[in-house]
Amino acid sequence: MAEGKKLFIKTYGCQMNVYDSERMAEALGAEGYVVTDRAEDADMVLLNTCHIREKASEKVYSDIGRLRPLKQAKPDLKVAVAGCVAQAEGEEILRRAPMVDLVVGPQAYHRLPEMARRVAAGGRALDTDFPAEDKFDHLPKLRSRAAPAAFLTVQEGCDKFCAFCVVPYTRGAEVSRPAARILSEARALVDCGVRELTLLGQNVNAYHGEGEGGTWGLGRLVRALAQIEGLERIRYTTSHPNDMADDLIEAHAEVPQLMPYLHLPVQSGSDRILKAMNRRHTAEQYLRLVERIRAARPDMLLSGDFIVGFPGETEADFDATMQILREVNYGMAYSFKYSARPGTPAAGRTPVDDAVADDRLQRLQAQITAQQRAAQDAMVGREVGVLYEKPGRLDGQLAGKSDHLHAVHVHDPAGRVGELVRVRITAAGPNSLAGERLGG
Ligand code: SAH
Ligand code: SF4
Ligand code: F3S
Repeated sequence: MAEGKKLFIKTYGCQMNVYDSERMAEALGAEGYVVTDRAEDADMVLLNTCHIREKASEKVYSDIGRLRPLKQAKPDLKVAVAGCVAQAEGEEILRRAPMVDLVVGPQAYHRLPEMARRVAAGGRALDTDFPAEDKFDHLPKLRSRAAPAAFLTVQEGCDKFCAFCVVPYTRGAEVSRPAARILSEARALVDCGVRELTLLGQNVNAYHGEGEGGTWGLGRLVRALAQIEGLERIRYTTSHPNDMADDLIEAHAEVPQLMPYLHLPVQSGSDRILKAMNRRHTAEQYLRLVERIRAARPDMLLSGDFIVGFPGETEADFDATMQILREVNYGMAYSFKYSARPGTPAAGRTPVDDAVADDRLQRLQAQITAQQRAAQDAMVGREVGVLYEKPGRLDGQLAGKSDHLHAVHVHDPAGRVGELVRVRITAAGPNSLAGERLGG
């Protein structure tokens, strides 16, 4: 046991890493580690890494380098690397960074306590297996702290193999957790104060977990979760357009707890590029899907991801991307310059000129910013639900998220964190909305 030792975790990448970091903190908690938010105090520094773009994964090596003075001052400090870079480059990390004591891939987190013990005894440890057992079954059951909004991983891995993406290699094949386990984790979270759950999966809407009476899709899971008393809001992310089942779309019309915000990446508006990306749908099919979703839930706020500068992208292809951005009228979007990733099919293709890609990214981002501002401005005067998640910056203020996932702050000295209240939006700023609490 490492009684009273301190653990500092830095999390990169997606929400699943955020969830995993919490679970790893719990697993190491059982070994006596207590989380600290100061790296200088730590006995173990754990970097939970992301491999999605080159910049993200190179940053890990520079962050490891930055730990050198700490390690020199405290030779007993253990440095651990987890996440998708660990999975993709485990051996290389141990070679390139002698300071690293432990490397653990995303599917082996339940083995972390045992690895930590080995490392404490002076060894180095590497585990990037994809074990047959489910890591979630072997992780401690519950977190102690419960913020009002929590993540819950229901599905992991990806079988889609988009030509640019490392996720199928770093996270492995699609695996869905059984419905009963998810429901009991959700109940336990609600019992310690959680009011909103975001169901996570690399392809969350491809969920096909074992459940009562056979295999459940995500729509069925959402309906079952909505029966849990005290769970007021449900979200899920990230979805693939080809897995948007009718039952899930209908759930958006029928389940009031399911929030009107959907992250549904399209990546490009050009059929030629979509095909080269192996996205397996056309722009037109995507637009028709969006129509059906909006028919079920007219106030749905759609968010998306876009890649510019994918190999072979011409100015006409880029125009088609700008076109679909406007046509769908996304209220929120994330845009990335294509980054060639080792081992992916697109990595060997002729790249678009870097300056051209930069210019396209800027134009895309300007349009996205304008649309985000318009979506926020359109909220002024409207009545929305807000779940208070933390104190605001000013005295007497509380901050939370609206149904549409906008950040909102409200002057409400009598309010408390964890309350779901009705708010009228009074003003829109660049990053958040202001509102007043309504009575009743
Ligand atoms: N599973 C999710 C997204 C995973 S990665 C999905 O399928 O939508 C998040 C986003 O990063 C992707 O949607 C894509 O827009 C972007 N991305 C992934 N690989 C990339 C690469 N090689 N270069 C640039 N952006 C990339
Ligand atoms: Fe990557 Fe495509 Fe899978 Fe999303 S669907 S994780 S972009 S391969
Ligand atoms: Fe990054 Fe892995 Fe998530 S590559 S985006 S941390 S699944």
